[in-house]
Amino acid sequence: MTIENILLIGGSGYVGRHLMNALSRRNVRITVPTRRRERAKHLLPFPMVDVVEADIHDDATLARLAAGQDAVINLVGVLKGGGGKTDGQPWGKGFDRAHVELAGRVARAARAAGAQRLLHMSALKADAEAPSAYLRSKAAGEVAVRAAFPGATFFRPSVIYGQGDRFLTVFAGLCAMAPLLPLACPAALFQPVWVEDVAATMAECLDHSESAGQTFDLCGPKVYTLLDLVDYAGRAAGSPGNIMPLGDIPSYLMAWMLELLGGPMTRDNYRSMQVPSTCAPGDCGVLPFGRRATALEIIGPTYLSDGRRRAGYDDFREGAKR
Ligand SMILES: NC(=O)c1ccc[n+]([C@@H]2O[C@H](COP(=O)([O-])OP(=O)(O)OC[C@H]3O[C@@H](n4cnc5c(N)ncnc54)[C@H](OP(=O)(O)O)[C@@H]3O)[C@@H](O)[C@H]2O)c1
Repeated sequence: MTIENILLIGGSGYVGRHLMNALSRRNVRITVPTRRRERAKHLLPFPMVDVVEADIHDDATLARLAAGQDAVINLVGVLKGGGGKTDGQPWGKGFDRAHVELAGRVARAARAAGAQRLLHMSALKADAEAPSAYLRSKAAGEVAVRAAFPGATFFRPSVIYGQGDRFLTVFAGLCAMAPLLPLACPAALFQPVWVEDVAATMAECLDHSESAGQTFDLCGPKVYTLLDLVDYAGRAAGSPGNIMPLGDIPSYLMAWMLELLGGPMTRDNYRSMQVPSTCAPGDCGVLPFGRRATALEIIGPTYLSDGRRRAGYDDFREGAKR
């Protein structure tokens, strides 16, 4: 089974650009649809990539894109459920649209086009009974995908870190800027996994036909509280923060306030942080295909020290809608 043509949906984002690097070492042709070509312009230098502006919520467009592809990879995801800022959907509807309806649509298109493989990005602890709409929608997306393409392979990472992340990099920037950093949900548990490990695992999966139909939880070697991680990010960036951990009710109120202000946190994020984003204890640092996860302490210093500058560029791009 040779994979030569890949449709990479959601490939313009953070994980997408790292996956592109991993795939670029292969002899493949990759098509990346985007809502705005401008957002994917960092992919244009890759000689084997076609960036196309397309409405992937349209079945006919998706069928055209999927035709002749050996593999389809779906990375589309949103952290906020809508409310006008992301895609004009009412609260929560954005999750359903991106994680469930689109996921099912992509799987049906892949199936109809005769693609050999479908790789679908979900999230750790996706569950129909989860307290957050984000995690419930990711679980419903898995069901929709499996119904249309039973041989799909699912990836469920904890929080992903590495060059260009919007997690540790942002906290590193906040530690440097804020004289006092109130931190919601300080005891929330994460097992961060390096973006290059995620990308390498997904790329390698294409060589392993036995991974069809499987689900892989992806975690790093160690469990941290959010407080540990924010403290680490500040120190690695050379600006230890003055962090003020908030209790449960202030955490919820802060999430609500930031949600109303269109800030980086919502009440749904608060609810997802009530579920430990950790793998089974025996899985610590074990990735598929014999791979060992890389420790945060090795990678963090390589990119967090210039995180403030990069986060500033990202804010600028966001403000300019690019
Ligand atoms: N980053 C993490 O820590 C983390 C952890 C667990 C799971 N995940 C999952 O991993 C995947 C990739 O995450 P990421 O951090 O790379 O996300 P990202 O940087 O925000 O990229 C998301 C991609 O999805 C596309 N997209 C977003 N909303 C869309 C919509 N309504 N319709 C069509 N396309 C849409 C965007 O494409 P255009 O804007 O170019 O159209 C973009 O390429 C997601 O499924 C996410 O849920 C991420």
